[in-house]
Amino acid sequence: MADVTLPVRLNHMRAVDLIRKKRDSGEHSREEIDFLISGYTRGEIPDYQMAAWLMATWIRGLSGAEIASLTEAMLHSGEVITFPELPAKKVDKHSTGGIGDKTSLILAPIVAAGGLNVPMISGRGLGHTGGTLDKLEAIPGFNTALTLADFRRVLRECGMALIGQTAEIAPADKKIYALRDVTCTVENVGLICASIMSKKLAEGIDALVLDVKTGSGAFMQKEEDSVRLAELMVETAKRMGKKAVALITDMDQPLGRFAGHSHEVMESIEVLKGRGAADLRDLSIELSAWMFFLGDCSKSVDQGRVRAEKLVASGEALARFKQGIGLQGGDPGVIDDYAILPQARNRAEIKSQASGFLSATNCMEFGIALATLGGGREKKEDQIDPGVGLEFHKRIGDRVAAGDTLATIYYNSAGKLEEAQQRIADSFVLSGHQPPPKKLVRRIIGA
Ligand code: URA
Repeated sequence: MADVTLPVRLNHMRAVDLIRKKRDSGEHSREEIDFLISGYTRGEIPDYQMAAWLMATWIRGLSGAEIASLTEAMLHSGEVITFPELPAKKVDKHSTGGIGDKTSLILAPIVAAGGLNVPMISGRGLGHTGGTLDKLEAIPGFNTALTLADFRRVLRECGMALIGQTAEIAPADKKIYALRDVTCTVENVGLICASIMSKKLAEGIDALVLDVKTGSGAFMQKEEDSVRLAELMVETAKRMGKKAVALITDMDQPLGRFAGHSHEVMESIEVLKGRGAADLRDLSIELSAWMFFLGDCSKSVDQGRVRAEKLVASGEALARFKQGIGLQGGDPGVIDDYAILPQARNRAEIKSQASGFLSATNCMEFGIALATLGGGREKKEDQIDPGVGLEFHKRIGDRVAAGDTLATIYYNSAGKLEEAQQRIADSFVLSGHQPPPKKLVRRIIGA
């Protein structure tokens, strides 16, 4: 008699009851979360019920125990890879997302050229932010959907491989991520932690560097929320036996000069050529330095920084990116000829109406404007237009005269141009006083 209690309860579990429980602020058991995640991954729970549960969860929140259960259920929805054939340490980086954040394209080849392995499972655009997979797919032929066997082969041959969640690896995140993107259920500490850590822990890494964004272009706009997310993720990694550190970094303005898929590929290659925007270069070097340090490739972060700078200056990191593009089916000619990337046909400039100092930006609006022009998704099945983009001509603290160009829009269809122009123009905040310079790395958690 005693043995039948649990199976009977599990047999009778229904998604609708779990949605009601979360709506009414209840706390789920591990079994309930397993039921939701495995049922949704197998296609037994439909999108509309998962969307309702996600919204209830977004509003009511998750306890620490629920976040741990969710992360583990999502991690074990697919395979957890190991790489016994690769002697060098496996290290990865993940960002919580922002505008113009393209550091993965720069640091993966730097760190691979430095002797570590970077098995990177990334995401597509999420909410107002761009995604590494969509950016890489701007390169003609680039395949982000490698089989597990090809993922291993590319990693063995060049030390880096960048793919998305698959039916084999982190399938629950693949489905839930796409649903959250279009149901306004991204900005929740527990859902972000489970999403990021389930893919990262599935990659067979030894160490992880987290770039947790904070500010007006981040999912967590307040620094204390970003710190909480960072602590949660570092704690989760350490509980699973991985070394981890989180850098809380500024997202009060776009990173680098460009946002938009083709433009971000070009800007990343520029940094690998030793040029490009200073903030983008500095953050890419800093994150690489931490990866070298956690991967036992340098004795200190300072030494890691020197190593990363040398690999850029010598051209080794650029050569590694070229090799990686070719191995994943992309056209390596992109390194020397940006014209092979999809380009927008038209451009429009946003001029300042007033004089002063640029004191702040409503950075999230830049991402929404870009999506409006076709550079993001409103529905799961939407196709990205990789050619559209934004170029930012002023940084916070810069002096602005009336008539100066604040931003350039690269677009194809004029349908939503006016709306995008308005959003962008309204998102530059001028004041009479020069604000103090922004610190790129605000805090480090778990060092
Ligand atoms: N990046 C992810 O992979 N998942 C999130 O939920 C947010 C950022």
